[in-house]
Amino acid sequence: MSDNKKNDDLDYETTGHEWDGIKEYNKPLPKWWLWTFYATIVWAVGYSIAYPAWPGISGATPGLLGFSTRMNVEKAIEDHTAELGPINQKLASTELTEISQDPELLTYANNAGAAVFRSWCAQCHGSGAAGSSQAGWAPGYPNLLDDDWLWGGSIEDIHTTITHGIRQQADADGDYLRQSEMPAFGRDELLAEEEVVQVVNYVLQMSGQAPQDAEAAAAGEEVFAANCSGCHGEDGKGDRLQGAPNLTDAIWLYGGGYDQVYESVYNARAGAMPAWGERLSEAQIRAVASYVHGLGGGEATE
Ligand code: HEC
Ligand code: HEC
Repeated sequence: MSDNKKNDDLDYETTGHEWDGIKEYNKPLPKWWLWTFYATIVWAVGYSIAYPAWPGISGATPGLLGFSTRMNVEKAIEDHTAELGPINQKLASTELTEISQDPELLTYANNAGAAVFRSWCAQCHGSGAAGSSQAGWAPGYPNLLDDDWLWGGSIEDIHTTITHGIRQQADADGDYLRQSEMPAFGRDELLAEEEVVQVVNYVLQMSGQAPQDAEAAAAGEEVFAANCSGCHGEDGKGDRLQGAPNLTDAIWLYGGGYDQVYESVYNARAGAMPAWGERLSEAQIRAVASYVHGLGGGEATE
């Protein structure tokens, strides 16, 4: 009580308002605060004129400066493309076999190719390109690190495989560049069950494994010569003109155990890879071809 009284006695400036003995002191905002506040209002008005601001039905007001984050991205992409234009053009027009002669071009191709690989190829072939030979990977995706190739491992072969895909698309002239399909010998009744068993045993034997049934394996030689050698070769070493794998090495797309080979012969596998010719630019395809070629299994052009 006494404190209040004391305050009352102080000679503060009041606004002149008084209710039931309570007076309103006149305590204005500090000047610096007030001016900062006014400045933010002016800034906000200016900003909403210069930059996109007020939401409307079909979009916000664009602002006088024409700024947009989307445009920033487009510009950045444009700059990047323009910057890489000349080297991409060089890559797309250099003879495939000569890319490796030009150190600058080769470095660029391999770096760009690694990026293409990560975006477009790794989901099937694995980030390290080891395909089905990686633990836990589904069968049928070839290892691109080894020197075992269905269709050939020269840079031209790899380029053609990537451009046209495997077992599906014709090129502009209607040629199926990477077409060839193993028949489903069991399912389509091209061979009797007994013959399938014989030839499967024979394939196990030719790949250096012990057959389940040596007698059947011996009989399988004839079945193989009559039905399989046209694609896999008389010696079973495969034929790259037809994308038919070598059956005598220990490298398998789908597995080399009895059951897996049986499945390959009975139902066939019809492995396929999409064609990249229409999705990627020529420079991207060459870059990734050069990258794959350089992974370790690449072959020289004859
Ligand atoms: C949808 C899965 C898939 C994608 C994505 C994919 N591939 Fe393939 N690729 C395959 C399959 C499956 C095969 C084997 C087809 C067969 O059975 O003949 C293959 C085969 C290949 C071969 C031939 C290997 C050989 O031994 O001759 C090359 C080279 C290759 N791919 C490179 C690439 C590159 C480069 C990319 C990215 C631009 C890519 N692949 C993307 C599934 C894929
Ligand atoms: C028209 C050509 C053609 C004929 C005929 C053919 N194959 Fe094949 N074979 C292929 C192709 C192409 C592949 C690869 C299939 C794929 O990747 O889908 C293959 C794959 C295989 C595989 C799987 C190899 C792996 O690495 O996993 C086996 C096993 C096989 N063939 C055995 C046979 C046997 C046995 C016969 C005869 C009864 C036969 N093939 C006849 C073309 C042929």
